[in-house]
Amino acid sequence: MSEGLRVRRAAPSDADAISQLAREVASEPEGWLLTLGTWRSSSEERRSIRLLRRHPDAALFVAETSEGIVGRLSVTRDHYPSSQHVADLGLMVARDYRRRGVGRALLEAAVEWARASGASKLELHVFPHNQGAIKLYESFGFEREGYRKRHYRRGQEYVDAILMAYFIES
Ligand SMILES: CC(C)(COP(=O)(O)OP(=O)(O)OC[C@H]1O[C@@H](n2cnc3c(N)ncnc32)[C@H](O)[C@@H]1OP(=O)(O)O)[C@@H](O)C(=O)NCCC(=O)NCCS
Repeated sequence: MSEGLRVRRAAPSDADAISQLAREVASEPEGWLLTLGTWRSSSEERRSIRLLRRHPDAALFVAETSEGIVGRLSVTRDHYPSSQHVADLGLMVARDYRRRGVGRALLEAAVEWARASGASKLELHVFPHNQGAIKLYESFGFEREGYRKRHYRRGQEYVDAILMAYFIES
């Protein structure tokens, strides 16, 4: 793991850094995320963090080094009573900090949060071309659950996604 890496819940004061990180990752030409170069503004991000901190069914984590915030993970439980045990993940790490264990550390925080909040299944969607992310998820213990054709609209096109899941042992 990266030296001096700390994973913690996001605070409203992190909004600028999170928003900048997300905009940078969303702008990468490989197209890892659903958004193409855009993200919430800092003030929208701040509002969203404030709401999340009061919400028992969702959390936002950041990975931080002495140089600032280098990763972000969101986890949100399903609101349908019959699938409230399932929580959805969103993950990103700053380009210069990849392959140093940041993604894995954030996933560990999500598992810990899920266990404490009673969720027993984590799920996520990943684009089929994102082989690095798929390797991370599989090495962590995620399983492929399905292939969803034309599942998301991204810019002007529909794109496929792989659905993956991780089961939390009690
Ligand atoms: C996918 C992503 C989150 C991985 O984060 P990371 O901090 O680099 O991951 P880690 O360093 O914890 O990787 C742990 C292991 O996963 C695998 N892995 C991660 N990225 C990989 C890559 N690009 N190629 C091959 N294996 C990879 C490796 O086994 C790695 O261990 P190793 O470095 O000792 O070989 C990061 O690349 C990223 O933010 N990408 C852009 C946004 C994105 O794709 N988000 C996910 C959308 S579903």
